[in-house]
Amino acid sequence: MIRRLDHIAIAVPDLDAAIRRFAEDIGLELQGIEDVADQKTTTAFLPAGETQIELIHPMDGQGPVQAYLDKRGGGLHHLCFETDDIDADVKRLKDKGYRFISDAPRPGAHGTRVIFIHPKSCGGVLIELAEYSK
Ligand code: CO
Repeated sequence: MIRRLDHIAIAVPDLDAAIRRFAEDIGLELQGIEDVADQKTTTAFLPAGETQIELIHPMDGQGPVQAYLDKRGGGLHHLCFETDDIDADVKRLKDKGYRFISDAPRPGAHGTRVIFIHPKSCGGVLIELAEYSK
C-alpha cells in the first residue's frame, strides 16, 4: 500500500551549487549525502516536513541521471512514494497495465528497495516506489 510522498528528486548538474541553493537560500537543512552505486547517482537529502527534496547528480559522469542532464538539462526528475509492500504494489499496477523500467525492485538509498514506473505509463511523470527495510 502507498503510504506517503517519500521524496521529490531534482536532477542537478552542479551538486554543490544546488545544495547551497536549497540549504542557504531556500532554507532547508542538508541531512546527508549518499552514493547509490547501482543507480550511478550521488544524492543529497534535504527534509521538508513529511517528505524531502533529493538532489540527484551523476557519479563519474555516468548513468541515467547523466543521460537525463545531457538530454534535458537540470530539473524535476521524479516523485517517489513510499510503499509498505513494493512487490504487491508492482503486481497491482502491472495488472492494471503499467510498465516498469526494471523487471524487479533494485537497491536504493537508505537501504530501500526501489522500482520506477515508466513515464509513458504515467502521463510523462517518472514515479518511483520505495520500500524501507523493516
Ligand atoms: Co528517488
